Amino acid sequence: MEQQKRYGHFDDEHREYVITDPKTPWPWINYLGNEDFFSLISNTAGGYSFYKDAKFRRITRYRYNNVPMDNGGRYFYIKDGDTVWNPGWKPCKTPLDFYECRHGMSYTRITGKKNGVEASVLFFVPLKKWAEVQKLTLKNESAETKSLKLFSFEEWGLWNPATDMENFQRNFSTGEVEIETTVHEGSPSGATIYHKTEYRERRNHYAFYHVNVPVQGYDTDRETFVGLYNEFANPDAVMEGKPRNSHAHGWSPIASHYIEVTLAPGESKDFVFLLGYIENEQDKKFEAPQVINKEKAHALISELDTTEKVDKAFAELNAYWDALLNIYKVKTGNDKLDRMVNIWNQYQCMVTFNFSRSASFFESGVGRGMGFRDSNQDLVGFVHQIPPRARQRIIDIASTQFPDGGCYHQYQPLTKRGNNDIGGGFNDDPCWLIFGTVAYIKETGDFSILDEMVPFDNQPGTEVTLFEHLKISLNHVINNLGPHMLPLIGRADWNDCLNLNCFSWDPNESFQTTENVSEGTKAESLMIAGLFVVTGKEYVTLCEKIGKHDEAARMQKAVDAMIEAVKKHGWDGEWYLRAYDFYGRKIGSNECEEAKIFIESQGWCTMAEIGAEDGMVAKSLDSCKKYLECEHGMVLNNPAFTKYIYEYGEISSYPEGYKENASIFCHNNPWVIIGEGLAGRGNDAWSHYAKILPSYVEEKYQTLHKVEPYVNCQMVAGKDAFRPGEGKNSWLTGTAAWMWYTVSEFILGIKPDYDGIRIDPCLPETAGDYTVTRRFRDAEYDITIHPNGQQKGVKSIVLDGSPIEGTVIPYSTGHHHIEVTM
Ligand code: BGC
Ligand code: NOJ
Repeated sequence: MEQQKRYGHFDDEHREYVITDPKTPWPWINYLGNEDFFSLISNTAGGYSFYKDAKFRRITRYRYNNVPMDNGGRYFYIKDGDTVWNPGWKPCKTPLDFYECRHGMSYTRITGKKNGVEASVLFFVPLKKWAEVQKLTLKNESAETKSLKLFSFEEWGLWNPATDMENFQRNFSTGEVEIETTVHEGSPSGATIYHKTEYRERRNHYAFYHVNVPVQGYDTDRETFVGLYNEFANPDAVMEGKPRNSHAHGWSPIASHYIEVTLAPGESKDFVFLLGYIENEQDKKFEAPQVINKEKAHALISELDTTEKVDKAFAELNAYWDALLNIYKVKTGNDKLDRMVNIWNQYQCMVTFNFSRSASFFESGVGRGMGFRDSNQDLVGFVHQIPPRARQRIIDIASTQFPDGGCYHQYQPLTKRGNNDIGGGFNDDPCWLIFGTVAYIKETGDFSILDEMVPFDNQPGTEVTLFEHLKISLNHVINNLGPHMLPLIGRADWNDCLNLNCFSWDPNESFQTTENVSEGTKAESLMIAGLFVVTGKEYVTLCEKIGKHDEAARMQKAVDAMIEAVKKHGWDGEWYLRAYDFYGRKIGSNECEEAKIFIESQGWCTMAEIGAEDGMVAKSLDSCKKYLECEHGMVLNNPAFTKYIYEYGEISSYPEGYKENASIFCHNNPWVIIGEGLAGRGNDAWSHYAKILPSYVEEKYQTLHKVEPYVNCQMVAGKDAFRPGEGKNSWLTGTAAWMWYTVSEFILGIKPDYDGIRIDPCLPETAGDYTVTRRFRDAEYDITIHPNGQQKGVKSIVLDGSPIEGTVIPYSTGHHHIEVTM
């Protein structure tokens, strides 16, 4: 049998994915940075950096959807005689004698070898620093002395990538740099190139690119360095081995250091490059007319200008990740499951928390800020790791809400303000605030968050308690019911492409923001109905917990009414309907010509357990298996739309099998899996889960899925697609948090609750004994589960040697040992 091509493999011990062939089927990227300064880096060192906001503070330039793909990044050119090569293969693409890229937890190490020289670069953003470190180690593995010419390269972005890509009549004249190659009093040794475009006017920030050794030349003007008719693959200065010492005035400023390196046989040398970002106070911007104040840059450089300092910062970063990943650990003996739960799923959750849906190789970082619903869902993926940041995130999100409970669909991370370009009107959005907040309180026991004063639309003076925000969130649903007493959908619910109040034949109109016919709409959503029941029940429990019994009773009534409405008007016989359209006609019904069944309402209504007693849940789950499931997971709808239905908006604009039109939209598979879990169908839950678990289908990723094999992607082309199984939109997807929530709480069954940890696994019959170590608030729990071939149902729990009643291990500090028998 033909051996399948592989581009890499997991290294669990180091928590790395090791790429051994640079020609991956798609750039396989990693994220650097944990709080303020962020970078994207591909396996060939492509990508870009920004401070907090990929739109408003872009530091380096990137050209999207380039030819070739992924051109532009932080490049080191090594000229060894007539051979010019890069450690990450690109951009020169000189064949290497050895190549390896190791993507780890917030760092990437790329190593290349050519003609007896090894170049290894460690890229990372140190904790709490506004800078990317690039530690380059050059080693002479040959028997001769090597004289190398080393050129670094970064291209500056003019801060806002949107205008940077379009406003050339201005941009080509504004670029400015400063160059520091000699050591002045107070300046660190080495050489620094400062990027200060627009600093003379309203900006109070600049960036710099430093190296910790003296240089023999530099370049800061792109065309002078590259040559107008050349490419990154063959810059004039590099090919000739002669820097031009250019000083950029306008056009496209870059930063390139030129260093001559001699290495005796066996000798190796480290070079620390630092890409940094600085903000100055308004009255301290300059040290002389038009000369930037470099004090803070010098200070930052001096913290990271030796191998020792950098190694220490790297050790701190690793310790940080050790601590985060020690909070929840599973040992099942199944490497494929353990590595996803213990490493990659949790890592992806942190990345989606940091980036929401803003910057990836599929998201430009220009169009979208943080999503309201997205951020609330992402929160569930990392709240156990850094609860204080989850708390802050909840307050930030709630602060963009409107007084009627509606909310901005997105907000910008830099300003934390709602995004006016998209506005509000997505009627599922408010419910997610309850989803996020409840998860936070259960994890931390911190009810005080409910008393935080939180404004509307960021307007000072409008503050009410967070609890009030939760209340108006659900009221927003109650106040916007349609003719069947089901929630009105607004511009869309979770499915951004089911736009039932936008009828347009005009290709210049946006599906999402044009609401040309919402007046008198009958468009209702069963997905919101299920979401309302799930979050409404959570809210009722919360109200009881804090003694608001009247409010609990009020909401219980609304929840009960919604359940009745779904049973009466939301059931199609074998599955839940998806929606009613503008005219009140069914969507997602057997009566429909296409798209007879949708996944979202099956997921949410089974999670809400609506009609379980009448067999509705079981039938719905069976229908998912029958109509939605395929080799790669469950598709969003079936059959796919082959015709464009203009009163449905964007959904049927997609060719069949892609995106919201019948792809495996991974995000919503977990909803059905949780439904299966609640119903106790462990075999089914597991088989659905394994189909979209990256490590289980790693082989497929190598050629078919194409995207990064270590994380989930947003969509895998469905069974009706031209190329079923092809993955797209990797990394930034709510799938991360949902996969985590599903496996940690519903499959492995370790569920934080107000008073302790609830144990309620749902497993395949084949599951063996496993242990979860879980830190919970100030306590440590070692929990061993003995499934005994059972899919569901805990028989007994022994806590520190004594049996307990029920399935909740009451919270108490200390280290506890728990034995669970099913
Ligand atoms: C995509 C959705 C996305 C929306 C907003 C649509 O084109 O299909 O997945 O949420 O745009 O960016
Ligand atoms: C991606 C968006 O970020 C998310 O909010 C939405 O729910 C899905 N697409 C489905 O349309």
